[in-house]
Amino acid sequence: MSIQWFPGHMAKARRQVTEKLKLVDVVFELLDARLPISSRNPMMGEIVSQKPRVILLTKCDLADPKANKMWVEYFREQGVGVLEVDAKTGKGVNLIQSVTDKLLQPLFETRQRKGILTRRVRAMVLGIPNVGKSSLINRLAKRAATVTGDRPGVTKAQQWIKIGQNLELLDTPGILWPKFEDHGVGLRLALSGAIKEEILPIEEVAVHGIAYLKERYATELMTRYKLQDSAMEEEAYDLLQEIGKKRGCIQRGGVVNTEKAAEIFLNDLQGGMIGRISFEYPGDEFFTAEQGVQRDE
Ligand code: G4P
Repeated sequence: MSIQWFPGHMAKARRQVTEKLKLVDVVFELLDARLPISSRNPMMGEIVSQKPRVILLTKCDLADPKANKMWVEYFREQGVGVLEVDAKTGKGVNLIQSVTDKLLQPLFETRQRKGILTRRVRAMVLGIPNVGKSSLINRLAKRAATVTGDRPGVTKAQQWIKIGQNLELLDTPGILWPKFEDHGVGLRLALSGAIKEEILPIEEVAVHGIAYLKERYATELMTRYKLQDSAMEEEAYDLLQEIGKKRGCIQRGGVVNTEKAAEIFLNDLQGGMIGRISFEYPGDEFFTAEQGVQRDE
């Protein structure tokens, strides 16, 4: 992550988001479809307060379709507008307008009663770094002109992007910090590529990922690395060594370079080479107590 989230930065981010919120009627809250809970800012509800929100589950092309469906149902049951989107191919993006229209019907009606018919509904994109904010805005704008990355100091005049008949979108997203204080959440964020592995030891992240895949995606793991069924009995660290051997990460004296092996594994995982993997499912243990719960295991 290019931003280090010290308390001062969090306060500044919050201030900037609060300012932007004053300009809009609705918020598109971007959550990574592979880990919707861990990629959610812990103070989202408090910061956005009563503004209508549509949840957009980004990178749905990398997530397990089964889990995507469960998450859509989960959020729908909570009465929240929700859509799977893939900014790379544009899947789901053309539905944003109709989902938003439906959500804002009461607002349209109130405005109509008051005789306010001219103004389009205004929206902004909000999410943690790397969740796909710029990609989505670019896709919606059908141009590749917005600033990518989260470089502090890059400022430009605020512009609105017209989407369809009723909607306009602020061309700069609101950026909030992730919920990384919890170790399990931090590991999942690192596995997804949302935070740079350097923040956590890369081998630890890979071992955690392998242990998780062994539980939930054993077939995909075995297929990718041509592992035998019996390998699933091994400890995750031993499997990392195995992967290293298969990928030629051998140092002098025949010792496996586990750091290199971890790098290869994480590249494969984040690039979708192992398969479509979700790191969180509704009802997972870490997640039972309340929404946004930070307990793990
Ligand atoms: P941000 O503004 O929220 O920080 O995120 P950004 O759009 O810059 O996206 C972060 C990374 O996620 C980018 O990859 C982007 O291509 C990728 N991404 C965004 N949306 C999707 C999606 O729906 N599906 C997939 N598969 N990837 C997505 P990158 O490696 O940083 O850059 P590059 O691959 O675009 O060169």
